[in-house]
Formats: sequence, structure tokens, C-alpha cells
Amino acid sequence: MDQPPATEPHPEGAGDSVIHTRALTKRYRGGQLAVDGLDLTVPAGSVFGFLGPNGSGKTTTIRMLMGLIEPTSGTARVLGRPMPRATRAVLPHVGALIEGPALYGFLSGRDNLIRYDAADPTADPRTRRARVASALDRVGLSAAAGKKAKAYSLGMKQRLGLASALLQPRKLLVLDEPTNGLDPQGMREIRSLVRELASDGTTVFLSSHLLDEIEQVCTHAAVMAQGRLITQGPVTDLAAKGRLVVTTPDTGEAARVLKEQGAADVVITEDRVTTEPPEGELADINAALVEAGVRVRGFAVERASLEEAFVALTGEGFDVAG
Ligand SMILES: Nc1ncnc2c1ncn2[C@@H]1O[C@H](COP(=O)(O)OP(=O)(O)OP(=O)(O)O)[C@@H](O)[C@H]1O
Ligand SMILES: [Mg+2]
Repeated sequence: MDQPPATEPHPEGAGDSVIHTRALTKRYRGGQLAVDGLDLTVPAGSVFGFLGPNGSGKTTTIRMLMGLIEPTSGTARVLGRPMPRATRAVLPHVGALIEGPALYGFLSGRDNLIRYDAADPTADPRTRRARVASALDRVGLSAAAGKKAKAYSLGMKQRLGLASALLQPRKLLVLDEPTNGLDPQGMREIRSLVRELASDGTTVFLSSHLLDEIEQVCTHAAVMAQGRLITQGPVTDLAAKGRLVVTTPDTGEAARVLKEQGAADVVITEDRVTTEPPEGELADINAALVEAGVRVRGFAVERASLEEAFVALTGEGFDVAG
């Protein structure tokens, strides 16, 4: 038997990370450079969003992390072990849903899971039915469990793929576009499931091209564009700092007072004055405005969205690279 993978630090300084890559690169046979020198660090216990437009290299990275394809160069460690070398030791601790789950169309959803579970040598056959029933329940497929998988909608197939990743408790879940094909209600359910799993201590690494999804569910994120990492870190750091927005009919006077209070980059648009939030207590700034006779209708710090941060970082929006 292989040793179970450990998550202790290793010489490259991966620290408490569950996924750690150094200069990870994949050039496909056709010459396409899909992943280019990726340095990724996924902290233990995080819900990590792997964000990028179509074709930016997300699935390619995930396939390298799971030992499904060999990197052209660079290294990847998962649960502290090198991939793909330690694939056999690492994969039993990882639940994965990768683009287009492989399903037997002629089998029911339930029987697909039973087959999948039976392929796991560590899974106790006596508790198989209960495990399958509970995984079906978690993804909301209990009622449709008897239906043939070929009759499933895209969203139902996606749920079934997710259920297969949930059969066993895992240290790490790797989900490639888990909400792909789901309706808004289904997306909400998956998001709350991800939160629930994370609160049990599972690290969740999920890819998405949906910014608001990442903002809603992730603690950390990395942004990819054209095979390159643009940025990574806690989601709160990635979203650009918010701006103070004062809504008032007295914009000129408000701008003067805000400058006096040390606010930088004061911009007036119609009945709004926005600035970088000044140092110091916001309540004092509001009081200074009121004291100067400014009629304040609204006073708030509006946090910039991850989307704005993304556009600012890549300068390209969300178009597919050619
Ligand atoms: N098997 C392959 N052979 C050659 N090129 C490939 C292969 N798979 C992917 N590519 C190319 O590698 C690049 C990255 O593709 P990848 O599937 O990793 O992107 P992605 O970020 O997962 O995109 P999406 O959001 O559409 O799923 C693309 O330019 C793609 O055309
Ligand atoms: Mg993909």
C-alpha cells in the first residue's frame, strides 16, 4: 500500500497548501501553449475559485493536478505529494468532477453511482447503498435516481457527477465548472453545498468563468487569462478597494469638504460624489459634511466587484482568446 499523502510543509515552501504548483506548463501536441508557467498556491481549508474565460487553461491545469495528463514542464503537488508520480496515493483523498462526467447512459443515476463506488477498492460494499443514497440526496437527485442517465438533462448529469465526487469524505474536492448547465435554483443549491462541505473542513477548488459565483462562495481566487496567472489571493484582496459614495444635491460643497477631510481622487457625477475612502472614521466625515450644510441623501462605501477588478487586471474583459 502507498503511504497516505500528508499535507505537511515541504522544501519548496508550500506551507499549509493543499495544491502547490511551480512554473507548471502544458503545451499540447498541436503546439498550443495552454498553461504557461503557473505558480498556484491553494491554502488548506479554503474555497478556492479558479477563474478565467473560455480557453484560459483551467481544465488543462485541473487535468495536470489530477494526474490525467503530464505537464510539459514545471511541478505540481497535491496534498503534499508530487503529481503525476503520486497519483495512486493522492486520488483516493480527492473527489473530482472534471468537464463532462463519464456516465453509462443505459444505467440509472443510482446504478451509475453504485458502479462508481464499486470501482473504489477502499469502499465497503456493505454500506454501498447507503453511501449512494446519501450522495444522491446531497445533490438533489433522489427523486430522479431511477431514471436512465441518458435521459438526464445537462444539469442532472452535472449533479450526478458531483454526487460521485461526494461518495466518500475527502480532504480535497476539485470541481471543474460545477454549476455548468444548472438552473439558478440548482446553482444556489451547489453553492450552499460547497459552503457546507467547506465548513466540514474540506478544501474545495472550483473553476468557473462566472465572477459573481466566485465572489459568493470563495474565500480565495486565482485569475487566469491565456494560460497565465494574472493574480491570486483572498477574494477580499482581489476585489479592488471600494469607493466612498456621497449622494447629495450639493455636490460642489460636498467635494470641497471631502477634499478638506483628506479624500483623494474626488469625482462628481450628477448627484454623486465619489472618492477613495479617506483614512479615519467615516462617521466623522459624514458629520463634517452635515456641519458644512451639505444635504446628504446617501453615504456608503461601495465595494468594487471582482468583475471590475478582473477587467482592470486583464484590460480585456471576458472575450475568448483567439
Ligand atoms: N487536448 C487538447 N489538444 C490541444 N489543445 C487543447 C486541448 N485541450 C485544450 N486545448 C487548448 O488549450 C487551451 C486551454 O483549454 P482549457 O480547456 O484548459 O481551457 P478552459 O479554461 O478550461 O476553458 P473553458 O472555460 O472553455 O472550459 C485552449 O486554447 C484549448 O483550445
Ligand atoms: Mg474547461
